[in-house]
Amino acid sequence: MLPAPSCQKPPPHPIRPQASRPRGSTSGRASRAGMKRRQLLRHAIALPAALPGLASSRALAAIQGGPRVAFGIAAQTRQLLTDPGFRDAVVRECDILTPELEMKWGFVEENQGSANLAPADQMSNFARRFGKRMHGHALIWHKSTPDWAASQMMTNPDWRIIDAFIQRIVPRYAGVVESWDVVNEPFADNGRPDGLRVSPFLTAFGPDYIRRAFERARSLAPTAKLYLNDYGFLYDDSESEARRTAALRLLEALKKHSVPVDGLGIQGHVDLERTGTFRQETFARFLKSVADMGCAIRISEFDVREHETAIPVEQRDALVADATAAVLDVAADCPALVSVTCWGLSDRYSWLPLPSETAGLNRGLPLDSDLRQKPMYRALMKALRR
Ligand code: XIL
Repeated sequence: MLPAPSCQKPPPHPIRPQASRPRGSTSGRASRAGMKRRQLLRHAIALPAALPGLASSRALAAIQGGPRVAFGIAAQTRQLLTDPGFRDAVVRECDILTPELEMKWGFVEENQGSANLAPADQMSNFARRFGKRMHGHALIWHKSTPDWAASQMMTNPDWRIIDAFIQRIVPRYAGVVESWDVVNEPFADNGRPDGLRVSPFLTAFGPDYIRRAFERARSLAPTAKLYLNDYGFLYDDSESEARRTAALRLLEALKKHSVPVDGLGIQGHVDLERTGTFRQETFARFLKSVADMGCAIRISEFDVREHETAIPVEQRDALVADATAAVLDVAADCPALVSVTCWGLSDRYSWLPLPSETAGLNRGLPLDSDLRQKPMYRALMKALRR
């Protein structure tokens, strides 16, 4: 499948925050840092009252002066442009912005021959304006492959079909997108020993599509961090175990053949119906195995899916927060963790449904639909500062 050996550790990930200065130092620089903290504290106190009683995660992290794993969210351009309250919350809270839709192939090139890049441009302009880093999502994903491209690949497996999209999008956002999901959701229980999903990519090009995509992305974005991203690694059951094994084997093979993969994105879609099968030791062991290969780790799509809504809202929020802490506390203890991205910031725009007979919104994101911090927010921030 893959050429030429030699295994290298990637350089330290640039988005890991710098360690803080030791407390109690009397140097001039330390007192300047103290002054900066006091200024930040004043700034935090002066924050608009959209989040009553609590300063934003960024301000708090700055005041405390300590390192904090970066916090990201996925959002849609339309939400940022049309909802000022939401936009302000995004500006206040997050370090890294992921376009929920706007850089996906099926969105950009739904119709062959025309490209819709305006929403991705608008989001990248927003990121530049407000000093946000961006994570690009996703170059290769079976669910967002335009129909025309999938059928062309199947009838005439010509790599240029994929290459043209990668070439169109990666250099365009070079100054602002610091990391990419190069291959999204490559694993599935399709009966293959390697655990790879039988997608149009696999059918057309074999497992080598993964190497080709990473190498092409690296050639166009030499400094961006390149990720493999998938779900289903969390639970202590045979399904998750098979997916973990497949991911470790693939990463090992890619590393062994010097394919430029920098890390693994672990989609943290937590399901409250399955949390009984979550074991911190199992997840920690997996994270360590990934880290031991020299891979960075992102928790890339964190949210909590509820099922039970006929209980008091406080109880619902407590269940969501407990599930958040259970997963993220383990992740935060892993030195290879560079960021946690929630798949949305506020329940107002959650992609998670509730059971169809239930009114209301799923409460599995950090802010409620009025943009107020919930217990999940506090569990998340506590984990990020561990
Ligand atoms: C989802 C979006 O949130 C939805 O709005 C869209 O309709 C479908 O895609 N895994 C991924 C994300 O990698 O791209 C998906 O995003 C959620 C599951």
